[in-house]
Amino acid sequence: MLIDGFGRKVDYLRVSVTERCNFRCQYCMPEKPFSWVPRENLLSYEDLFKFIKVGIDEGIKKVRVTGGEPLLRDDLDYFIKLVNDYKNDIDLALTTNGFLLPQMAQKLRDAGLKRINISLDTLDTSRAKQIAQKDVLSTVLEGIKKAKEVGLKIKINCVPLKGINDIDVLEVLEFCKKEGFVVRYIEFMENSFAKSSSKGLNSDEILEIISKKYKNIVKVPRDSSSPAQYYKLEDGYEFGIIEPHKDDFCASCNRIRLTAEGFLIPCLYFEDAMSIKDAIRANDIDKATEILRLVLKNKPEKNKWSNEKDNKVSQRAFYQTGG
Ligand code: GTP
Ligand code: 5AD
Ligand code: SF4
Repeated sequence: MLIDGFGRKVDYLRVSVTERCNFRCQYCMPEKPFSWVPRENLLSYEDLFKFIKVGIDEGIKKVRVTGGEPLLRDDLDYFIKLVNDYKNDIDLALTTNGFLLPQMAQKLRDAGLKRINISLDTLDTSRAKQIAQKDVLSTVLEGIKKAKEVGLKIKINCVPLKGINDIDVLEVLEFCKKEGFVVRYIEFMENSFAKSSSKGLNSDEILEIISKKYKNIVKVPRDSSSPAQYYKLEDGYEFGIIEPHKDDFCASCNRIRLTAEGFLIPCLYFEDAMSIKDAIRANDIDKATEILRLVLKNKPEKNKWSNEKDNKVSQRAFYQTGG
């Protein structure tokens, strides 16, 4: 079992297979030109898998494949199959922007994937374009449809931004309700890459919008394996809000992140990371396990969004950390 320095059980590993992305979401990517990590610096699927095995053998029960946009990396279905075949009682899932799902959904399902989380900030074409800085909506919707058709269990992630898609909160909920998807709204997490004008809605503001239409919304007891606080409507439909600005958000944190370059990151808001690349490439499993334990020992108690006082903004964007 993996326990961090604050006694939290860590059983969730998020693995980013690439930092590249085909979107430029204004809350995630820099506006200025920037360069990607060179391909030769990335760990191969086999090496990433070697580390996942270390994690699973030490107590990881949930593995999520992330990016950047993970479907941009060739043959992702091969990687999914590697992990799924190792231990298929692992909760294996994928987070994607959905753009490449029309051609990839079936392959992913065939590789053993069961669950998928897809970003959908709005159902309005021009606002989707404004956020992603690309005309994405129709392809994403096609991808969502395909994912449903092949039998993937779907959650939708929506980041409501003031003055942009705050007016779409209810429409996204209605869409998800109708399609049988769980929607989670995510409070915008400030970072130095996001467009400086980006302002997120907080959970109270999101709830206020939803309660204009739905009365008697009830809080569902917190499930520590998910970052979301769930709420139930009178008709039984449940939606979630990921509220990193709330004080108790980090108390139940159960996750660590591995980047495509082999850095182990103990927290979204954490500037230092340790590399497992050399250990893994040398097949030194003891060393990789030692680094994993050390990173857990140094996992911070709280992230920046729990401590507004120090007024620091994360120097890492989601495309780099895997969200
Ligand atoms: P489920 O297993 O479906 O609950 O997945 P998940 O919510 O863990 O995965 P997903 O990739 O959909 O994550 C949604 C978002 O939750 C992330 O992109 C972040 O915005 C937020 N999130 C996840 N983990 C953390 C965390 O450790 N800290 C903070 N601040 N936010 C997190
Ligand atoms: N704040 C909140 N959510 C973000 N995401 C990306 N960047 C941010 C941010 N700064 C979301 C994406 C995706 C999920 C993985 O994280 O919209 O749904
Ligand atoms: Fe790409 Fe996801 Fe970042 Fe948008 S939020 S730019 S889809 S990595």
